[in-house]
Amino acid sequence: MTALHAEFGFLRSVSRGSRAGLAPGDVAPPAYAAAIPEPIELSIVVPTFNERANVGPLIGRIAAALAGVQWEVIVVDDDSPDRTADYVRTLHARDPRVRVIRRVGRRGLSSACVEGMLASSAPFLAVMDADLQHDPALLAAMLATLRAGHTDLVIGSRHVAGGSLGEWAGSRAAASRLATWFATKMTAVDLTDPMSGFFALRREVIDRWAPELSAIGFKVLLDIVLTAGPSLRIRELPLRFSTRRHGESKLSLRVTWDYGMMLADRLFGHVIPVRLFSFACVGALGLLVHLAVLGLLFRLLGAGFRISEVVATGAAMIGNYAVNNLLTYADRRRRGWGWLGGLASFALVCAIGAIANVLVATTALGMGLPWEMAAIAGILAGMVWNYGASARYTWSTDA
Ligand code: GDD
Ligand code: MN
Repeated sequence: MTALHAEFGFLRSVSRGSRAGLAPGDVAPPAYAAAIPEPIELSIVVPTFNERANVGPLIGRIAAALAGVQWEVIVVDDDSPDRTADYVRTLHARDPRVRVIRRVGRRGLSSACVEGMLASSAPFLAVMDADLQHDPALLAAMLATLRAGHTDLVIGSRHVAGGSLGEWAGSRAAASRLATWFATKMTAVDLTDPMSGFFALRREVIDRWAPELSAIGFKVLLDIVLTAGPSLRIRELPLRFSTRRHGESKLSLRVTWDYGMMLADRLFGHVIPVRLFSFACVGALGLLVHLAVLGLLFRLLGAGFRISEVVATGAAMIGNYAVNNLLTYADRRRRGWGWLGGLASFALVCAIGAIANVLVATTALGMGLPWEMAAIAGILAGMVWNYGASARYTWSTDA
């Protein structure tokens, strides 16, 4: 305390209501002397993966757009190989309103956004991409809307009057339209642009709903809207989407898959775990692979049925393993020799699953179920076994 006084004694002491914001029973912090900046009003969360060339210009434009506002930027970087996090720390040395959260061993746009938002103590939060596709000038209007008090969530929409998709390739625009159509058909959301990655909200919304978010994949806005439900007061402001400055988009097959899984999680995640659902979808694809290989060998090439079945079963199993490794267990992906070891344990798991399948199906048939039902019961039992055992042995978290 004395050392602190010696160092900062020349500064004004804390005057701002020391009991402000405390609940009954909370202990007030002791008064101390320090240079106290004004509290932050708006935290801007910027998820990054390899955006070193973009964050600097982005922050310059945020600062210009928010003159007179107490803002901070929280960059959430997933340990980018281009060392975006290090670069952001050099920015902090020049402007302490910029800070970084570096996450290691994890990837994911949604979860990065959620963690960034939870790291804020400001009343208002915004989320935007780092690649300058989102115009920081819109932040001021978003903040003004939230300050006015009748809105919980403001969305930068490309599909209201005045907004635009920018120079997106036709295929990407079509994919975006399809994803939006799908979301509005499958759920009750009534938004022009539920796919938007640029929005602002009151911090209470996240404080309230964060524990229930899916946080899978790219579409954090849709996740929030589906989780919080119709009580959320939403406004859309026009956003003119720009083209990415540097680097490349991280949109991929994985992101598309994750989108489906996030929707599935919101729709029936309370009944079926989303990983089991993903596993079952991959299993259904495996069935198609099985039938295709069998048809090719047995019908077209005239191979014997038994050998064709063996090859088809092997192909489907290896295919299922590879695809689950890429999509269902992207976060625990096995690589190199670990990939082969995983395949061996998956094969063993599936062999036992096949025995379980046959046992359950024959028992069900013996109990008088029609043969189709008995077969389905066997398939379900085998699948649940395969899922549980492979989660434990093939993609174990403590491997
Ligand atoms: N921390 C972290 N982790 N950040 C990520 C990750 C990740 O795994 N993947 C992507 N990002 C960051 C990027 O660095 C960028 O700042 C932002 O998230 C958006 O990523 P892009 O790769 O540029 O995505 P996009 O332009 O294809 O899609 C964006 O626009 C769509 C349409 O509005 C995203 O905002 C989508 O959510 C949005 O639907
Ligand atoms: Mn982008």
